[in-house]
Amino acid sequence: MEQINSTKEWQELNNYRNKINLKELFNSDPNRAKDFAIRTQHLYYDFSRQLIDRKVFELLLKLADKAKLKEKISSMFAGEKINKTENRAVLHTALRSFSSTEVNEVLSKIEQFSCKVISGGHLGATGKKLKNIISIGIGGSYLGPEYLAQALRPYAIKGMNLRFIANVDGSDFAEKTIDLNPEETLFIVVSKTFTTAETMKNAETAKKWILKALNNHPESILKHFAAVSTAKEKATAFGIAPENIFGFWDWVGGRFSATSAVGAVPLSLYLGFECFKIILHGASFMDEHFKNTSFEKNIPVICGLIDIWNINFLGFKTRALLPYFQGLSKLPAHTQQVEMESNGKMVDIEGRPVGFDTGEVVFGEPGTNGQHSFYQLIHQGTQTIPCDFIGFIKSQYNLNEDGITHHEELMANFFAQPDALAFGHKNFPGNRPSSSLLLEELNPFTAGLLLSWTEHRAAVKGFIWGINSFDQFGVELGKVLGLKIREEIIKNHKNKDYKVSKESYPASHVALNSFFEKKLPS
Ligand code: F6P
Repeated sequence: MEQINSTKEWQELNNYRNKINLKELFNSDPNRAKDFAIRTQHLYYDFSRQLIDRKVFELLLKLADKAKLKEKISSMFAGEKINKTENRAVLHTALRSFSSTEVNEVLSKIEQFSCKVISGGHLGATGKKLKNIISIGIGGSYLGPEYLAQALRPYAIKGMNLRFIANVDGSDFAEKTIDLNPEETLFIVVSKTFTTAETMKNAETAKKWILKALNNHPESILKHFAAVSTAKEKATAFGIAPENIFGFWDWVGGRFSATSAVGAVPLSLYLGFECFKIILHGASFMDEHFKNTSFEKNIPVICGLIDIWNINFLGFKTRALLPYFQGLSKLPAHTQQVEMESNGKMVDIEGRPVGFDTGEVVFGEPGTNGQHSFYQLIHQGTQTIPCDFIGFIKSQYNLNEDGITHHEELMANFFAQPDALAFGHKNFPGNRPSSSLLLEELNPFTAGLLLSWTEHRAAVKGFIWGINSFDQFGVELGKVLGLKIREEIIKNHKNKDYKVSKESYPASHVALNSFFEKKLPS
């Protein structure tokens, strides 16, 4: 298949990169605000401030057709092995379609387990109720579930608290457990492979922490540990009881696993299983929209196409995700993994080097905090950063205020910032692109909807670029190098005089050898 940048459609877009001025577009097209927006059940998506006109929009849709986007989306939903390098299907959508027997069986087992823990039917080894849930995992075994937990804190079951331990840095474990009673604590070891070094290290430390506190009570692991993994035999070998191991499948990518047991187990214990099911319904709503809506009204498709226009034709390599809602403070971090681990690739799905930019650097903070941090560059910097604003009609908290409320103060900025970027102000140049997503309220349904929107937007770009958005060999190198230096540290443990050579580590030998001596290089 020809690479997308050698197609006529790509060249037409390239030729059409004429200066688009938003002020002129809005002045000349009275229907722009209405026509460059999509209203679907549960959300309103406004892309009228993006640097596109009707011609660009039409050309982008042609590019999607040339890339056979519709067929690729259908292949994904049909369970074809589109993840060619790992010979796997990509079926995270099956986790929330409620039509898979094996998925429904796992969900039923999770429902029973979470109900027993919450009701006190499953107590700790010393007979105490388990109320501290600690999910140990990293990357996709952490970021999506943490986004959802943070977004839905108002929905937490009274008395239940959920924490995440991800980093191998011992301060993560120490600070997340320092104030907890081990007798009331349940660890969930979440790892698709059950081999990730950080997670295994934290799991071993958790095991020691519980055994020490419970004086090696024989039921310590049985009562205080559960696991989520595709590698059940490894979880069993760790000592976790089979009835406390919840599986998922290799057709669920790590960064796409929040609606599998990876998210279901910790979130059902924290929010209740019924609440987690609503998350699934929200994600499924967006899946159906993505699968069935014609591209000119398809929100993830249009988001992906505009991203490509900004990255490959206007040269904007970063994107800011600016949720005007504190509860979405962990959405940027989750989006970073979904976007940058999926599309940070330099070869296409046939293994050929790509001749264009793929991926994008995504960052973000909730509004209005970001306004007091990095918006100076966004408004007046020499580089343009397309922004995505997310806002809600309702707040999650009612502070019984009179006059203008906190939420209205927040939303005043949600509405003002995109206009300031688009149209400028005094010595603000303006003509800076953004999109806005407006939803009714942040609840389990819309939190799930936003998760699915994030997943499909990244997939659209990979499909059009012709890369494999579903493998992640780039992270394997880091893991291998980490293990090599870990071996050096063990050698130094055995022989305090052991040093690494300049030949082996031309850049890091000085610092590494002084680390062995527990001091800074002289
Ligand atoms: O970052 C690399 C990666 O493999 C991610 O794709 C994955 O989400 C994370 O590490 C954790 O992997 P596991 O769930 O197997 O512990």
